[in-house]
Amino acid sequence: MLVKCDPLRPDPDVVKRAAEVLRRGGVVAAPTETVYGLFAHAYSEAGCRKVFQVKRRPMDNPLIVHVDSVEMAETVAYIPPELRDILRRVWPGPITVVVKSRGVLPRCVTAGLDTVAVRAPAHPIPLAIIRELGAPIAGPSANRAGRPSPTTAEHVLEDLGDEVDLIVDGGPTFFGVESTIVDVTRTPPVLLRPGPFTVEELEKFFGRVEVPPVARGLAEADVALAPGMKYRHYAPETPLVIVHFDLEEAVKWLEARGLRVAVLCVGECPKAKRTIPLGGDLYEAAKNLYDALRQLDKLGVDIGVVPAVEERGIGLAIMNRLRKASGHREARRPEDLAAIVK
Ligand code: TXA
Ligand code: MG
Repeated sequence: MLVKCDPLRPDPDVVKRAAEVLRRGGVVAAPTETVYGLFAHAYSEAGCRKVFQVKRRPMDNPLIVHVDSVEMAETVAYIPPELRDILRRVWPGPITVVVKSRGVLPRCVTAGLDTVAVRAPAHPIPLAIIRELGAPIAGPSANRAGRPSPTTAEHVLEDLGDEVDLIVDGGPTFFGVESTIVDVTRTPPVLLRPGPFTVEELEKFFGRVEVPPVARGLAEADVALAPGMKYRHYAPETPLVIVHFDLEEAVKWLEARGLRVAVLCVGECPKAKRTIPLGGDLYEAAKNLYDALRQLDKLGVDIGVVPAVEERGIGLAIMNRLRKASGHREARRPEDLAAIVK
């Protein structure tokens, strides 16, 4: 069941209905400022299990607990006083902190870990649902496991269809990539996943933050820093390659070998048969990225190419997602393409 809802002034009837579904142990898909989430009442064991089931998510990959305030976060986690002050300034927003759990939620929410990931989303719809419920909601992104995260209600429908009890369609999400995850149980804090809350901004609040290679998408973690890191994510069916040199040259090289190519481009698109424009700047590119990856699979081409972007600001999150989507295929020179398409 899908219902429309104004993202900025959520319809109270829709909010009440969503809370009712959650109270009964159902699951609700709703937008956040980052991507759509698939939510359950965080205290409902049945609801949380259903999230894993519907998404086909391995049970050892924990959920994020969404709260409306630092006070609510303190009901599920231990928040040290210095962190409390920081969270009061950065929440609501696209930043998830991994902290010590109080162990009050069903085990499956945290996959049995003694830590819990919490965030207050900066989106009126989930905030209103949490307030109506008077309790946190737990959930991952509302895509089928292994698919790009959903940034529209249509994406949720495409992946999960009628297995979701209620889909709240609040239009496209604002940022388009998942929240920044930072493990603040370590000193210095460790970036587990880059997102819209940039490292540059994080460091203003936390001082030095460690950025391990896995957070840049450069490696798959053997020993997972975040449990989710060991799973393949955001993988389109069509091979994708990140290009560090002139895009037009890359397209020519590939087409000369008889390959049908689609180009995901930022800013001006090169002359090519099939282009998927990502937008004029990196914020637009982040917002359109997952839809572009879904489009790529529908074009029926042999390969997609996408330009590398600078790993600064939101560019770090974009490169992390692109590296995962491309299965780490990166070409620094035309000759590198030979090894990739062989
Ligand atoms: O923006 C977002 O983060 C969206 C919206 C819906 O809030 N959520 C999201 O969740 O994208 P997703 O699908 O990435 O799943 C939660 C992530 C996983 O990567 C998981 O490994 C990590 O959070 N996580 C959860 N609990 C954790 C913990 N205790 N320690 C480390 N990582 C944890
Ligand atoms: Mg996800």
